[in-house]
Amino acid sequence: MNLILLGAPGSGKGTQAKALSQRLKTTHLSTGDVFREEIAKKTALGAKVQGYVTSGKLVPDAVVTEVVTAKLAALPGSFLLDGFPRTVEQAISLDAYLKKSGKKLDRVVYLALSEDEVVKRLTARRNCASCGELYNVVSKPPKHAQFCDKCGGKLVQRQDDTEETVKKRLMVFRDLTEPLIAFYKANENVFEADASGVAQDITELIANELGVPAR
Ligand code: AP5
Ligand code: MG
Repeated sequence: MNLILLGAPGSGKGTQAKALSQRLKTTHLSTGDVFREEIAKKTALGAKVQGYVTSGKLVPDAVVTEVVTAKLAALPGSFLLDGFPRTVEQAISLDAYLKKSGKKLDRVVYLALSEDEVVKRLTARRNCASCGELYNVVSKPPKHAQFCDKCGGKLVQRQDDTEETVKKRLMVFRDLTEPLIAFYKANENVFEADASGVAQDITELIANELGVPAR
């Protein structure tokens, strides 16, 4: 099953994509994670996108689309896209790529969450610098403050998770991604999930909607 997960910053795309991709045995592709890895490795792509990512602006459509289509072309199986597309232009490019390569999109899932909740979640987010495991000092605190439960790595805060940058990211979402949601609602089979509950319950809700067998 080929899926897209849409949602505001902090709506839980990464959290749900991780859980669902394991259940569906599909490849989770997060454009944000790809860019942060490239920045950390100091590659040419990392240098090109760094200013956008750290300041909460969108990376230009052509750059993101090239990265995603190259990754999809190298994938043998199905995909779960997290954070792409996020403009109507990116969706149109993705559609053209899928048509050309004989692949199809099965479902779009939209995680709906209020802006107040987004700000609360993102300013409380931490992630492990070694294995990437996600935490939240309010909703999913680590057992030992500052260290990862899984690998003992140091917990860090994303550079774009300051209140000021989160507000900027929300503005970008309103301006460029909300029109994409309307576009998909008009053209694709969109499932809108209330993302305000407990993470595991939201996974079950989506899995049930997608017809994934219960655990
Ligand atoms: P990206 O990394 O995609 O960031 P984002 O869209 O802003 O989303 P986040 O990763 O911040 O949040 P999330 O929805 O994954 O939530 P999470 O599960 O972590 O993009 C970063 C940047 O890269 C962009 O600003 C842009 O510069 C660039 N970029 C990426 N893609 C691009 C594209 N297509 N085009 C152009 N530029 C692009 O959860 C958040 C927190 O909440 C965590 O602490 C988590 O533990 C907690 N949480 C999750 N679910 C729940 C729950 N149900 N209840 C309580 N807490 C919860
Ligand atoms: Mg994410």
